[in-house]
Amino acid sequence: MGEKKADTAGPGGMFNDRSGKQLPLAMQYDYTNFYFGAGDDAFGMLDPFDEWWKDSKPSGYYLYGLPMQGSPTTRVDIRNTKTGKVETDLLNFASYNYLGLSYRPEVKEAVIEAVHRYGNGASGSPILSGSLEVHYELADLMAEFKGKEAVLLFPTGYSVNVGVIAGLMRSGDLIVADQYAHASLVDGMILSKANSRFFRHNKVDDLERKLKRYEGKKLVLIEGVYSMDGDVALVPDIVEVCQRYGARILIDEAHSTFIYGKNGRGVAEHFGFEDEIDMHIGTFSKSLGGQGGFIAGSHKLINYLRGFSRSRTFSCGISPVVTAGILRALEIFLAEPELRTKLWENVEFMQKSLRDAGVSVGDSESQVIPIMIRDDARIFEIGEALMHEGIYLNPVKYPAVPKHRSRFRMSISAAHSQEELEEGARIITSVLQRYGICPTSEGAITSTTG
Ligand SMILES: Cc1ncc(COP(=O)(O)O)c(C=O)c1O
Repeated sequence: MGEKKADTAGPGGMFNDRSGKQLPLAMQYDYTNFYFGAGDDAFGMLDPFDEWWKDSKPSGYYLYGLPMQGSPTTRVDIRNTKTGKVETDLLNFASYNYLGLSYRPEVKEAVIEAVHRYGNGASGSPILSGSLEVHYELADLMAEFKGKEAVLLFPTGYSVNVGVIAGLMRSGDLIVADQYAHASLVDGMILSKANSRFFRHNKVDDLERKLKRYEGKKLVLIEGVYSMDGDVALVPDIVEVCQRYGARILIDEAHSTFIYGKNGRGVAEHFGFEDEIDMHIGTFSKSLGGQGGFIAGSHKLINYLRGFSRSRTFSCGISPVVTAGILRALEIFLAEPELRTKLWENVEFMQKSLRDAGVSVGDSESQVIPIMIRDDARIFEIGEALMHEGIYLNPVKYPAVPKHRSRFRMSISAAHSQEELEEGARIITSVLQRYGICPTSEGAITSTTG
């Protein structure tokens, strides 16, 4: 980035953010500036990236991947890699542990029992030696819970999407995904070599435009709850259009299985469209607090995918230890519907508290709440201020979300107490007020840089 310095930097190699404050030059750049490089050496981008990274990491990128010192409970100790100091007792709104199941004592016991029986890893692909009895127990119980004929387990949620989409669709077919579809859905499209198109987020008329131009095999990809925005797919309208144009539908319910619907089966159940949707995908890494993913569907579909999903066939099975923990977490989920009731009370409280305080949370209607900052230059500084005040939240900025749509991605859990929610809402509001991101109690937006 050496040449560009002279063009873009203010005095002293700094530039101004929109509040007039000088920020390090490195913060003008992001990962996208280092994707393509000139020259013939495949390592050609390493030095410029390293130069940028050394400058930008302390300015805010260090906020990613901070080492947590224990389980992802509602209060966590985090090592600040900039200062080396462990920040204690931060209120955790960053983990996906929506039902607080990852560290439940019964889950830990199941994990310990499984260690004694199975040891650590599965030691093989699921189609060879890596399928253990506990995998079948989990798949059977999941199929019963989802009300589907069969379930196929995958090592991660990511690998389900990649394996299923590329396992089913071929060059010359058409895949149309919601523009906010998760990277794993997008990577599945790319790997399949099918023609890939996106429709504007939740805009059914745009989906229709993309489908109607095409003769041949068609697949539409949606999420139940969108992972960065927390809003919900317009399932009835999408199903209607897909049926009209003969397109199959895949729904990724990573953030909505075990949460939405009368029985917790997801957004498809919530809308009463479970039979109309062809492929139901989910992960064990969010609400059940484990790792791995699944697809639920007909026997014929699952049997075909068992043969053609390369991300499953050519990868080791989920560790039996983790699988046993997931199985116990699923049993707890089924036995304790009050967990979901508590989660929804918590979601309602936090959504209302933030909205009443004038904090922008987009169109979220779920436990995934984007705290919209829309200030790409200052989001890291605000993240540091939140941590300083006792809140653990992860910043999300371009290229993970569109430019000028930077945010903190908040996760609410059934495990949060009322006091923790109140404290969290109060601190977040006051930090955002200090930065002029939301109005003060007098209604004014006062832009200070904190
Ligand atoms: C919508 C969606 N699908 C798939 C995944 C991947 O799941 P996993 O982390 O279990 O691999 C994620 C992860 O965040 C997600 O948000």
